[in-house]
Amino acid sequence: MGKELQVYFDHNATTSMRQEVIDKMSPYFSQHFGNASSLHFFGIKTREAIDIAREQVALLINADPDEIIFTSGGTESDNLAIRGVLSARRGSVSRAHIITSSIEHPAVLETCAALEKEGIDVTFLPSSESGTVDPSDLEAAIRPDTILVSVMLANNETGVIQPVRELSQIAGNKGITFHVDAVQGVGKIPVDVDELGIDLLTISAHKFYGPKGIGALYRRKGTKIDAVYTGGHHEYGLRPGTENVPAIVGFGEACRISKENLSAEMKHIARLRDRIEIGITERIEKIKINGAGSRRVPNTCSVTVTRIEGEAMTMYLSMLGFGLSSGSACATGDSEPSHVLLAMGLDPVDAQGALRISLGIENTDEDVDAFLDAFPPVVERLREMSPVREES
Ligand SMILES: Cc1ncc(COP(=O)(O)O)c(C=O)c1O
Repeated sequence: MGKELQVYFDHNATTSMRQEVIDKMSPYFSQHFGNASSLHFFGIKTREAIDIAREQVALLINADPDEIIFTSGGTESDNLAIRGVLSARRGSVSRAHIITSSIEHPAVLETCAALEKEGIDVTFLPSSESGTVDPSDLEAAIRPDTILVSVMLANNETGVIQPVRELSQIAGNKGITFHVDAVQGVGKIPVDVDELGIDLLTISAHKFYGPKGIGALYRRKGTKIDAVYTGGHHEYGLRPGTENVPAIVGFGEACRISKENLSAEMKHIARLRDRIEIGITERIEKIKINGAGSRRVPNTCSVTVTRIEGEAMTMYLSMLGFGLSSGSACATGDSEPSHVLLAMGLDPVDAQGALRISLGIENTDEDVDAFLDAFPPVVERLREMSPVREES
């Protein structure tokens, strides 16, 4: 009997850990278990491991090690950045205004929505049809009481890269703190916080072959934020709690390897992604690659298939051995159309017909061949069953 087909095309949801990452982490579960705050040699051993990881994370984004705050991942880093700036500035301003975009991940969108309920003014910048935020919209939205701009680097659904350099220049000229959720950018494209003019940057390890539940907030020296949690003195007093040493070590190793391999791995992945996009466009009528005209991270393809729901395609393809998602992973289970695609101007029916294919380092040409064979018949079958009629 042949091996059961299992193709993973959902790397924007999460990735498997590299073997080197697992090997590096392993001794820190048992042999080197000390609390990094302890003064004895058990503690010194883990403190040293954290220091090395901090350097590895910093090196990947061209930061200094003491600008890296370890957190539990992207969601916490986004909260720490946004709530941390607000808390630090609240004493010195009578009103506060935050600018973000309408295509952010819920970690930013919901945080801003929660703050709105607390009386903070928030502007959600629109997206162009090609999935980008327009710097002139940012310029127009700035007010005298704007304290923070938060815009993502790469969108999790479409992979579209935002014009972060231009946006940071506009914010910087007005002395406004600039935060970037780079969860879908770091590990996929080179990220240099100096070149991009970023004050605060969110990273998550599990999106680039590191462990889940660990991430970092980069904080440029001099950028004022308060802690969100109260507790001990860990992480410069900004993120109290005993450090998750194995995860931090794994995160550092994932950063080290990413720095070394990024360009070769992304070339491989971009070639496969392009093969998929050309292949499905040739084989299937009435599909659209969302954000195709924009700069995108090399691994992501968001495709809208008219008259079919993304969830139906995802489930059908799953039965055939393909793991991918409809819209964003975080929207799984709710059948609302993707807020990102709606913001890009797709109508609600089309926005519900989106499939996200996100590739990773272990994918092969054979995976692409299998998908190009399997996908067109799935579309044909589901279109036959679709209650949504073709417009004449
Ligand atoms: C753009 C973006 N920001 C934040 C997050 C949340 O990161 P984490 O899963 O580490 O909390 C994700 C996860 O999908 C994401 O894609």
